[in-house]
Amino acid sequence: MEDIFVGLIGFGTIGTGVIKLLRENEELIRKRLGARFVIKKIADVDIETTRPVTVEREILTTDVNDILTDPEISIVVELVGGYTHAKTFVLEAIHGGKHVVTANKALIATYGNEIFDAADDEKVNIGFEASVGGTIPIIKTLKESLAGNNIESVFGIMNGTCNYILTRMTKDGKDFASALKDAQDLGFAEADPTFDIEAVDTAHKLAIILSLSYGKRVVLDDIYREGISEISWQDIEFAGELGYTIKLLAIAIRRGDTIEARIHPTMIPFDHILASVNGNFNAFHLIGDASDSVFLYGQGAGMMPTASAVVGDMIDISRDIMAGIWRRVPLRSYKKDRIEDINLLEMDDVSTNYYFRFSAVDRPGVLSAISGILGSYNIGISSVIQKEIKLDRDAVPLVITTYKAREKDVQMALEEIDKLDIVFGKTTLIRIEDDALR
Ligand code: HSE
Repeated sequence: MEDIFVGLIGFGTIGTGVIKLLRENEELIRKRLGARFVIKKIADVDIETTRPVTVEREILTTDVNDILTDPEISIVVELVGGYTHAKTFVLEAIHGGKHVVTANKALIATYGNEIFDAADDEKVNIGFEASVGGTIPIIKTLKESLAGNNIESVFGIMNGTCNYILTRMTKDGKDFASALKDAQDLGFAEADPTFDIEAVDTAHKLAIILSLSYGKRVVLDDIYREGISEISWQDIEFAGELGYTIKLLAIAIRRGDTIEARIHPTMIPFDHILASVNGNFNAFHLIGDASDSVFLYGQGAGMMPTASAVVGDMIDISRDIMAGIWRRVPLRSYKKDRIEDINLLEMDDVSTNYYFRFSAVDRPGVLSAISGILGSYNIGISSVIQKEIKLDRDAVPLVITTYKAREKDVQMALEEIDKLDIVFGKTTLIRIEDDALR
């Protein structure tokens, strides 16, 4: 039986999971692959700390060159994370003629084009299924299963930390700070949660999805994003009254030659399948022009779920190696010479439905002043809720939802409304997705 020699860079949680999975399912993998994985070296800056799996001392090294310069190693698994060292290791592996498997979304979202071009030049493969949605086979679905479709839209819950926090706020009535603390105590959120709660992590994942769905080069900072730190329990309660639940949604919609891409807290109807995705789970709702709806759900992180995606990529690449092919499927799903720069719809030109929560004085004429301004910007009101609960300065919460309106008009209207002396503070705006989600 053929041996496939592997070098693992990064012996943290996922690296440990990969070793564990290769051991536990060794016989099964041999039966499916017809070859045996041999972990020849594991490189990490810390080779002293005891891991939940034991490996022979002699395969551990602190020198990554023991892997990158070993001619026998054909697959390098990069599980270091971050941009700098990981990028150097991955490019050196590629230039050394080695295939690479990585779980590093930041690296692929930021330097994917450079890495993929280098891999094409060197005729090696890159597996990055674990970079988006952890265990969920979203990359393979886009590159292979749905390759015959125009991807009309992708709506995704791509960050388990945010989904956990929003779920606790919704189900247990917690405020943001205490739901975040719970997430940190359970290890779902980092000590510094900025990347997750401000939607940077989700932007990395959406950038990769856009590139594969539409064959485009994407500039990460061009994707509109808003995190969840401003969501209050009041908004969650009002959303419930209106028949919605709030999720941090990553959205990609094909609009002719332009692509609409945005990430923000979004109200979605209770009865949409994405509304039932709770806790730290991730999910993707895709619509292809032929396939119609496709729904993928699973763990977006964690030791064994992520290891599952990494080992799946190792098997995939090894099958090509054994078939004498360096790579069968293009890295970005499209042929290299057909990749173009993305043409993103400006956020100002996006049209959707809106929820506004004003803190307004409770007296005659207030509603007509607000609705007058909304009307002057062509924003139609679909519902109004006003509660008699007194807030600070005798204000009451006034909630208005709208028919489809243009973002630029909404922003201009709110700027004008927020200057009225009958309205206190900055108005809360949450976008509602109804008809695009089917
Ligand atoms: N921090 C991410 C999340 C997992 O909370 O979903 C890794 O992408």
